[in-house]
Amino acid sequence: MTEFSGLYVHLPYCRSRCGYCAFVVSTDDSTRGDYLDAVGLEAALVEPEASGSRFDSLYLGGGTPSLVPPDDLAQLVGELRRRFAFVEDSEVTLEANPEDVTLALRDAWIATGVNRVSIGVQSLEDAELSAVGRRHDAAGARRALDRLAEARISLSADLILGLPMQTAATFRRSVEEVCRAGVEHVSIYLLETDKSRTMEEDRRNHPERYLSEEEQAEAWLDAGETLASRGFGHYEISNWARSGRPARHSVKYWRRTSTLGLGVSAHELWSGRRRANVSGLPAYLASLREGHRPTALDSPVAALEAARERIFLGLRLSEGVPAAEIESWIEDAGDPLLSEDYPAWHEEGFLTREDGRVRFTERGFLLSNEILCRFV
Ligand SMILES: C[S@@+](CC[C@H](N)C(=O)[O-])C[C@H]1O[C@@H](n2cnc3c(N)ncnc32)[C@H](O)[C@@H]1O
Ligand code: SF4
Repeated sequence: MTEFSGLYVHLPYCRSRCGYCAFVVSTDDSTRGDYLDAVGLEAALVEPEASGSRFDSLYLGGGTPSLVPPDDLAQLVGELRRRFAFVEDSEVTLEANPEDVTLALRDAWIATGVNRVSIGVQSLEDAELSAVGRRHDAAGARRALDRLAEARISLSADLILGLPMQTAATFRRSVEEVCRAGVEHVSIYLLETDKSRTMEEDRRNHPERYLSEEEQAEAWLDAGETLASRGFGHYEISNWARSGRPARHSVKYWRRTSTLGLGVSAHELWSGRRRANVSGLPAYLASLREGHRPTALDSPVAALEAARERIFLGLRLSEGVPAAEIESWIEDAGDPLLSEDYPAWHEEGFLTREDGRVRFTERGFLLSNEILCRFV
């Protein structure tokens, strides 16, 4: 089967920074024009390397790609299509914030070729949204979901579990409501408070505002059951999709399929090398003005390293990894503790072995961080 590549473009501008967010973003959009030009220059520099490859996914992530003026977005997508060989039914995803979704903008995205929108709902409760500085309320998120669902565009919604003020009941309501809203894909992220000092302090000073770890674990399993009963398959630790609707682009990361990454802080796996761009906007712009890619990291992935990546990335997917591969890796690693823990994880019901593959159980997914870090 032909394996197509994916292209990611990071669009870092946001109106304001949400309390929990640690992505590379900027709230000063005065450089946006220069930035889009720089991404075009980077695409031109990369084009020769990609000349023999065909692509079937483009992911416009952020930041807030829905803030990019539609004409600029159309120009960028047009340029990427000219430089890279996209197959006809490519998945083109745009990350959008609910407050940006007007009917006019939605139609402009579709005219540009966007056929999938990933919308940052986070919650459908006003108290939870305002506690983390979101610019939209629940009604705004519902309106955005309705507008996108009406257009029959493939729709994905992000929710966060562990937000301040969230209870098991309000989280369940948010999950049930996004299911009813016509989405084909749901991502549920556990709030990472260590990414923001203010959030970490808030959690320390006001633990009563947060679900405990045990309550989060229960709410997460409960969400999985709700999603399963509504026809969503749990295909990756944080992701559920209706049949045939897993995020084509994201799956490439977990299967180690080739992807290119353009823009500040973008990462890629290309021709057996992992590369990452610098994460500072001024350095990104300066490097492209001088005519070279703003590389912060560039290293070949040796065979042993690739085998290890196949295990800790592949285990994230519900399809798991070949048992022979993980078992020979453990044997070769010569780590007596890992050799002891691996069968114990099966006995305790965190891992299961079926048809020659090893994968996490639902309970295992809950502990996946602890288990996966043993392969890093
Ligand atoms: C790259 S962000 C961009 C989303 C978009 N700008 C928005 O805010 O709606 C993608 C998703 O990451 C998740 N996310 C960001 N920071 C997080 C954190 N600290 N903990 C858990 N999830 C987080 C959110 O669900 C968010 O929708
Ligand atoms: S969550 Fe989205 S809107 Fe908020 S700062 Fe992060 S990228 Fe920007």
